[in-house]
Amino acid sequence: MYRTHNCGELRMANVGEEVTLSGWIQGSRDLGFMMYTDLRDRYGITQLIFTEENTTKEVFESARTLGREYVVKVKGTVLERKSKNPNIPTGDIEIDVNDLEILNASKVPPFTIEDDTDGGDELRMKYRYLDLRRKPVQENLIFRSRVAVETRSYLSQAGFIEVETPVLIKSTPEGARDFVVPSRMNKGQFYALPQSPQTFKQILMVGGFDKYFQLVKCFRDEDLRADRQPEFTQIDCEMSFVTQEEILNTFEGLTRYLFKTCKGLDLPEFPRMTYDEAMEKYGSDKPDTRFGMEFHNLNGVAKGKGFPVFDSAELVAGINAEGQADNYSNKDIKKLTEWMQRPQIGAKGLVYVKFNTDGSIKSSVGKFYSDDDLKAWGEEFGAKPGDMLLILSGEEEKTRKQLNELRLEMGERMGLRNPQEFKPLWVVDFPLLEWDEDTERFHAMHHPFTSPKKEDVERMMNGDHETMKALRADAYDLVINGVEIGGGSIRIHDRDLQSRNFDLLGFTREEAMAQFGFLLGAFEYGAPPHGGLAFGFDRLCAVMMGQNTIRDFIAFPKNNQGRDMMIDAPSPIHDEQLDELCLGIHLPKEA
Ligand code: AMO
Repeated sequence: MYRTHNCGELRMANVGEEVTLSGWIQGSRDLGFMMYTDLRDRYGITQLIFTEENTTKEVFESARTLGREYVVKVKGTVLERKSKNPNIPTGDIEIDVNDLEILNASKVPPFTIEDDTDGGDELRMKYRYLDLRRKPVQENLIFRSRVAVETRSYLSQAGFIEVETPVLIKSTPEGARDFVVPSRMNKGQFYALPQSPQTFKQILMVGGFDKYFQLVKCFRDEDLRADRQPEFTQIDCEMSFVTQEEILNTFEGLTRYLFKTCKGLDLPEFPRMTYDEAMEKYGSDKPDTRFGMEFHNLNGVAKGKGFPVFDSAELVAGINAEGQADNYSNKDIKKLTEWMQRPQIGAKGLVYVKFNTDGSIKSSVGKFYSDDDLKAWGEEFGAKPGDMLLILSGEEEKTRKQLNELRLEMGERMGLRNPQEFKPLWVVDFPLLEWDEDTERFHAMHHPFTSPKKEDVERMMNGDHETMKALRADAYDLVINGVEIGGGSIRIHDRDLQSRNFDLLGFTREEAMAQFGFLLGAFEYGAPPHGGLAFGFDRLCAVMMGQNTIRDFIAFPKNNQGRDMMIDAPSPIHDEQLDELCLGIHLPKEA
């Protein structure tokens, strides 16, 4: 037998018992006549002692050879510790070892297997099996497993059926590039890996399944960031005969259930905000509502006073950084301005107004505006003495985006983004279509299967170009703490409306038929009204644990270049394989 107990379970009540433990050597302290060694497994750490009196010479000598990460089995007696360690649950006891078996040796690991490791990202990804031994990584993956189990439990209780959809499919347009797989049997032809199971879940509704869900891998060839991986997991759902209201309630219920069962937290009812309101108040369709600092429009009070930058701007708007007037010297403001001027944000400048606690007012545009003018600005924000207004101007959409970045940064600096606080929000009424100036065409804001609002159907079928820009969709996103957790919509279930949408998106009839003929065909055989949504499962887990990076919630993630550092993929394949797949791209052999 390898173990009677794990390394996290022995307590004072076990004192005197003979036990067998197996695990990895975390580290040792050799005092000459005795040795302390920490033994680790995923349940915890237990201290072992080896003394010359209580073991054979052989065992004692063997203990001296133990290096970090050796795998061992020990037998011994549980003792009460003289100096207890209150920081770990097993800290009251230790094992007086009388027998030791080395199950496997280990090379010296390239980084420490500690909560705070000295290993950099790339090194840890290369030796992922060692990183996986670290407690924070294990905790994240164990948490993920718990959320998956509870998701399945909630959804099956609610009558949802888990159905697996194929991985080798035809392209689904979700806005990213597809990963493609060449077909050997159909030369010159390719499968695409699903960006989501969108069309399949709609077909399942036509197939009468009524309530579907799946924890499913999705693949998107897009630029990677902390909250994006090329392969990620969705909690994907679809329902028939539902209104938007019923979908929001069902998935608000799921989210609340997950926070309760996996975190012991009761979330309040989720507020709702329209897309237009989110853009106006926060300059983002995924506002972080853990703090206020909403935008105020200053067009009315700031324009027409002779300051050319504001006079020529489409929008003058700002935020109130409450209580910050004394905290920002001229130098600090200069640094903040430079931060805003970086190409990633691209602001031209930053105007401030400080309402000092001594009653004085200081502003970078004091030359153009009297104190009374500036007071009028303060009134727009409800500013108090000690507050500091930060103002941007320019083209409307750009200015809102930049101000969103500034608001988030100030929220961060002011400690208003507590990772242990959770503020969910439904953003609703997204536009149906988005006009792209560069390509001069419409894109689907969510995806091409999203339905316009009922009251907009008539205008969509018959309206002109400008009308199309104003169409609203039954589309919604769940946002928690400024992260888009999920999104969905009521779908089009009428063939003519779907065809019209493809027209607007610039598909010719032939293209639409070639790509989505199966869906349009299905819609001719009694498609029920339906809708659904998908949560980003990795993102949900990360946000629930108050973390920004989904990589730490994926057992084998890819780096920012889309590489798996451990298996070293992607990699070239043999010429024979290329020939067989009719790919014929023979790269020169490396010297
Ligand atoms: P959408 O494209 O909004 O909707 O995706 C749903 C959710 O999936 C997560 N997500 C990602 N997570 C990690 N890495 C990525 N690269 C990535 N891309 C998306 C996000 C996002 O909110 N078929 C529709 C859903 C529907 O309409 O039912 C869809 O996929 O959390």
